[in-house]
Amino acid sequence: MSAEERFMCTACRAMLLKWQGQCPSCGEWGSVKETARPPRRAARLAAPPEPITRVETGRETRLATGFGEVDRVLGGGLVAGSAVLVGGDPGIGKSTLMTLLGHRLAAAGRTVLYVTGEESAAQVRLRAERLDALDERLLLLPETRLEGILAQIEAIRPAACIVDSIQTVHSPGLAGGPGTVAQVREAAGRLVGLAKAAGTALWLVGHVTKDGTLAGPRTLEHLVDVVLGFDGDRHHAFRLLRSAKNRFGAAGEVAVLEMGSRGLTEVANPSRLFLRDRHAEEPGSVIAPAFIGTRIFLVEIQALAVPAAQGPPRRIVSGLDPRRAQLVLAILERRGGFDLAGLDVYVNVVGGIEVEEPAADLPLALAIASALAERPVPADLVATGELGLMGEIRAVPRLDARLAETARLGFARALVPADPDGPPADAGRPPGLAVQPAADLTKALEVTGALA
Ligand code: TYD
Ligand code: MG
Repeated sequence: MSAEERFMCTACRAMLLKWQGQCPSCGEWGSVKETARPPRRAARLAAPPEPITRVETGRETRLATGFGEVDRVLGGGLVAGSAVLVGGDPGIGKSTLMTLLGHRLAAAGRTVLYVTGEESAAQVRLRAERLDALDERLLLLPETRLEGILAQIEAIRPAACIVDSIQTVHSPGLAGGPGTVAQVREAAGRLVGLAKAAGTALWLVGHVTKDGTLAGPRTLEHLVDVVLGFDGDRHHAFRLLRSAKNRFGAAGEVAVLEMGSRGLTEVANPSRLFLRDRHAEEPGSVIAPAFIGTRIFLVEIQALAVPAAQGPPRRIVSGLDPRRAQLVLAILERRGGFDLAGLDVYVNVVGGIEVEEPAADLPLALAIASALAERPVPADLVATGELGLMGEIRAVPRLDARLAETARLGFARALVPADPDGPPADAGRPPGLAVQPAADLTKALEVTGALA
């Protein structure tokens, strides 16, 4: 079937080039009608396969949100027709972020539909005023009925539509009562489908429930292209927006934003922010250059060891993989000669950042050793390296990039894995940075002066 076949028999659905009184296919009289476009189903059925080499890739259209950091987390801008789920605790700043994003898109000449189901239009306007985020093209729709929202998307065909929040959307036509998992999932599915057809980038705001999952237990995550988590310590100003899933980019990417009196601003230099309140003279603190998504942050790893009260000693780990932390503790006992029995050990990464890579093993081991020995690690030193069970220090990916970031932030020394086959330690290193290779844990403890 081609684009020229604009006539269809309403009896047998045969497609024809021109109008005819009788359908040549089924013989029915007066059944041939002109169609605006061939039905998509027929088109899909008829499309022949083509060689992979001839498939047009045609890049997806990306909109800049006006927040460089958010664009990066999205994988290089907001994809037209895509669906993004933003989850976070109540009060963390989701509506603030959405208002600002909506405004920036509107200010760039796009029509944005902001569906508000939790707050009145007046409340949203007041927030936008405080944020200096008013624009004619930012349209407010106080609505919770699914049909009403769908009709407006259909009519306006906005470049972006924000639904704040998806949990408020309901429909008498759907199974289950308002707010139930079934309703939220069905409503989200219908919105995603229409947004895709209309080329509208859809933002669904969702509250995170106490157990940490989005309401509509994870099922919403399968419906959308991108899942973002918005969190941060409510007592601190900074917020982290991270991609848990992204069909158009890397998962695990993090944007750092700061909540101020004029809303959220981008933090240009997250490492500086995380290191701002460091107590370098205290034992138990080590700086690590770590990959967060595709970017390197310098993060502070902290450890504290105190005599255990009763029962089995506790290992409380946040910001790191607890199983790797267990491994590091075992290696410290066996290869470092530390006695951890009878001690509670607390481990933390400052700033609420999650470090998932094994390259954090060595700095973690040094932080714990420093806490146990009650001797601080030199303040101008960073460490990176994966620990093997024999206490050997293994290579980490992209050491050069880690060292460049270390030098940029003004640290003087880097403790790195010794590479017997590699170039001399100082070859191609950033000037002003002393690189100290260590083959195993014992050597690393010697260098840092954190020996037991
Ligand atoms: P909000 O965006 O309403 O959170 P959510 O939609 O996730 O529930 O923002 C919540 C908090 O942010 C609120 O307690 C006030 C604070 N806030 C600021 O600190 N600065 C601002 O400019 C704005 C608009 C809010
Ligand atoms: Mg809100």
